[in-house]
Amino acid sequence: MSSNDRVIIFDTTLRDGEQSPGASMTGEEKLRIAKALERLKVDVIEAGFAIASPGDFEAVKTIAENIKDSTVCSLSRALDADIERAAEALKNANSGRIHTFIATSPIHMQHKLRMQPDQVVEQAVRAVKKARSLCGDVEFSCEDAGRSEIDFLCRIIEAAIDAGARTINIPDTVGYAIPHQYADTIRQLLERIPNADKAVFSVHCHNDLGLAVANSLAAVVAGARQVECTINGLGERAGNAALEEIVMAIKTRQDLLKVHTRIETEHILAASRLVSGITGFPVQPNKAIVGANAFAHESGIHQDGVLKHRETYEIMRAQDVGWNANKMVMGKHSGRAAFRSRLEELGIALEGDELNAAFARFKVLADKKHEIFDEDLQALVTDTLAEETPEHFKLAALEVTSRTGVAPEAKLSLSVDGQPQQATAQGSGPVDATFKAIESVVDSGATLLLYSVNAITEGTDSQGEVTVRLEKGGRIVNGNGADTDILVASAKAYINALNLMQVSAKANPQVDGV
Ligand code: KIV
Ligand code: ZN
Repeated sequence: MSSNDRVIIFDTTLRDGEQSPGASMTGEEKLRIAKALERLKVDVIEAGFAIASPGDFEAVKTIAENIKDSTVCSLSRALDADIERAAEALKNANSGRIHTFIATSPIHMQHKLRMQPDQVVEQAVRAVKKARSLCGDVEFSCEDAGRSEIDFLCRIIEAAIDAGARTINIPDTVGYAIPHQYADTIRQLLERIPNADKAVFSVHCHNDLGLAVANSLAAVVAGARQVECTINGLGERAGNAALEEIVMAIKTRQDLLKVHTRIETEHILAASRLVSGITGFPVQPNKAIVGANAFAHESGIHQDGVLKHRETYEIMRAQDVGWNANKMVMGKHSGRAAFRSRLEELGIALEGDELNAAFARFKVLADKKHEIFDEDLQALVTDTLAEETPEHFKLAALEVTSRTGVAPEAKLSLSVDGQPQQATAQGSGPVDATFKAIESVVDSGATLLLYSVNAITEGTDSQGEVTVRLEKGGRIVNGNGADTDILVASAKAYINALNLMQVSAKANPQVDGV
């Protein structure tokens, strides 16, 4: 295949994905996801929106400094201050990209920007030139292109390419497009814009009508050569096109699509689990590619067919996306070097105190659990690093009693800024009793938005990975905890969320506009 047959995979899990309500991630979590994306061989990682907050700036900067094999990108509005901040965050990147955007639909120009179309073109050109003066790789997006007029798109895109943009993104910002119509827009743009051959055309589809992947693939058939997507389809509202679905559709239907990506698909499942564990957004069992049932056959006829000849009912091999790849990695006799090297293979680089803390936990877990899988290691690292959040509250001990016909009761001992405090509470269930006991000490005033528990591996000795999402005054945080005892995991996750709430309260507010 020629280079023109390659589709560039642009992952925006860390930027658009993080815009899902409740999906905010810490800088360390973002770096871990970025490393998993690099291991997948994602071409471009949109690491954040540098001007949005000091935390976003630091995350983009750290990712730019640590990722070598993928281009690292920062979003910026078409404003000098945004572009300068993005360039500053990216200055140490091996390969950096500034992604600048302005809205081009009549409804956005009139009501949001309150600008005339001529002014929008002028601002776009100024922004692209400014970005090019600071970075060799510039992407320009026409926000709400899905509802923009084709003549205006042709005009602004031609001007943006003349100004130096080398990637032109046509977002369906509100998920309004229908595949054949969106493909026709891409085809017309490629045919009508005189300098279209000087840029890669990109698509960025939202999933409001459940068509994000279909629209992206239709656009690829029409000539788009970059797809913007997220792991598990995370993203604003109904989400973005799911990376795993785009990549596997391209790989499985090469006969029809005649393009390829450089994604190493066997790492897809690990990346999906990492993102789900960190954000607390579970993957539905029937989700394509990465759902627990994606390769499970229930009906006898299907099982019989697959046993006789796999391809009777399977169009992809489960192991090609990482299923069945979870080896028993280690046991209690494994040493520190082997532990560290397995983490590195999983894209997790820990050093010094972090490595020591994670290894100590590994030994404790190995005593309780016979077989330790990659998923256990990922959860163990998430849990260890969660404890690195400045700990105002810390769980010292927990005892829960649960008996038929009697209200469950939790007794716990919590340290608050180093001072021990005890509490007892009853609840409708053991988790409810545990959270009530914590709240009787902390009295946080936060609302519980989500409580989710997932078994990390198979079997009843699996660790439970718990996510607790709390909201207070519009601030939303996700706390994580993992343990073979799900009540302990639940208490840890709740306390982690309370600690994150304290940290987050000190952070700066977000910038509006995306
Ligand atoms: O959906 C959208 O339009 C975006 C742009 C900022 C690319 O996320
Ligand atoms: Zn978007």
